[in-house]
Amino acid sequence: MALTITTARSAPTAAELIGVGVFSDLDRPDSLPNALLDARGFDAKLGKAMTVEADGGLVVVIGLGKSDEFTEQSLRRAGAALAKTARRQKVIATTLLTDAASVVNGMNPGLGAQCLAEGLELGRYVHGTYKSKAPRQDLKKVTIVGSTAKAVKDGVGLGQAIAAGQVLARDFVNEPGGSLTPAEFAKQAAAMAKKSGLSCKVMDLAAIKKAKLGGLLGVNRGSDNHPRFVELTYSPPKPKATIAFVGKGITFDAGGLSIKPGNGMMTMKMDMGGAAAVIGAMSCLSAAKVPVRVRAYVPMTDNMLGGDATRPGDVLKIRNGKTIEVLNTDAEGRLILADALSLASEAKPDAIVDLATLTGAAVGALGPKIAALMSNDEEFAEKVEGAASDAGERVWRLPLPADYKSQMDSPIADMKNIGKPMGGGALTAGLILQEFVGEGIPWVHLDIAGPAWTDGEDVESRKGGTGFGVRTLVELARSW
Ligand code: BES
Ligand code: MN
Ligand code: ZN
Repeated sequence: MALTITTARSAPTAAELIGVGVFSDLDRPDSLPNALLDARGFDAKLGKAMTVEADGGLVVVIGLGKSDEFTEQSLRRAGAALAKTARRQKVIATTLLTDAASVVNGMNPGLGAQCLAEGLELGRYVHGTYKSKAPRQDLKKVTIVGSTAKAVKDGVGLGQAIAAGQVLARDFVNEPGGSLTPAEFAKQAAAMAKKSGLSCKVMDLAAIKKAKLGGLLGVNRGSDNHPRFVELTYSPPKPKATIAFVGKGITFDAGGLSIKPGNGMMTMKMDMGGAAAVIGAMSCLSAAKVPVRVRAYVPMTDNMLGGDATRPGDVLKIRNGKTIEVLNTDAEGRLILADALSLASEAKPDAIVDLATLTGAAVGALGPKIAALMSNDEEFAEKVEGAASDAGERVWRLPLPADYKSQMDSPIADMKNIGKPMGGGALTAGLILQEFVGEGIPWVHLDIAGPAWTDGEDVESRKGGTGFGVRTLVELARSW
């Protein structure tokens, strides 16, 4: 059931609960039971919430943190905290937007409303498909109180659309590898395309062979599930430019013959987090009134170890003619992305962004919350960094050192699929991808192995897929 978010001057009488925002460094309104909040140790840190009774009704007091650290983005976390805390109510209202605007000079109410709506949708998210007793989620309607300005209403609409894309990505990531096979994933992507007015082309095994996607075929060789390659296109009238999104769609990564240890395999249904983010972003481009044409390229397969699986030492020929000696079958993402980047480059887009849960090394470098960004183009890298920052997603730049390329020298093919075991695994992976980006095309690679998944409960997300990357992609396309 969709969440209805509306705006109004004052709270509707039907509201069972009001969400109120307070700053940690400012006096709280006298209408709140402040002695009680203090006694219970409420510190008003951003995203902390406490339910109290005031004026005979229920109030969720939501921390907005320090007033001088507050930005519109803070409302995403605040909204998420409210939606989580109020999940037993059906109809609620909140003054969060005006509580913040009354204190923060120059706050952009449209952006604030967008972030608040995103937070409400993300905080409300549950993936309950496999629970015999579905987790409770009663929240149906939220009224954002204080302003009915067009910018605020538009912001709410935009935020809901983007959050729906992110939720779609989460659902894909959370779906087990045994049920979200490449065929099923492609089918659901095609259904989304139809609903969202995108054009869609799905290549099956025969078409993939015909297109000479040797990397995708090589990775798929150990699997009983056929691969797919999905292309989606969003075409607005008179597009200003064309950009390409590429997403790694490994529906389950067992590692192939270079098999993963049990512990490392437990979360590997998430290895299509890049694909999920790309498809999730594509689903909301039209609602977000994106002015550029966007083409998405999504290779899908699992990485299994059947009787005729690719062996270490085998050589694969990628779409663009370059050959790769596979020495570790667990370095499979780069193989399928090589084909996808080659195909994306053939259409000569103005820029390419790829998203991939590519290396454990990126997690080693930046931890579980920050994506690694690598690029062949300074200006485009800054553009993507800006979009990520405006979307409230954390990325950090890593280099693509040309002198590391010799680590991939192979005696029998154009390159090996792995570098030397001396660290820098995220960079050598990026360097391999770079070989498949067309000459002169600005390109950014986002290694989202860390932030695509969370093992801990955050304010904005639950254990499992996060949908990381959707907001950055939409913001990048929107602000082109
Ligand atoms: N899907 C994994 C990377 C990964 C690891 C994602 C942990 C999320 C969490 C990728 O296919 C992989 O196995 N990479 C190897 C590459 C190595 C064999 C060169 C890795 O990072 O260990
Ligand atoms: Mn792998
Ligand atoms: Zn993988």
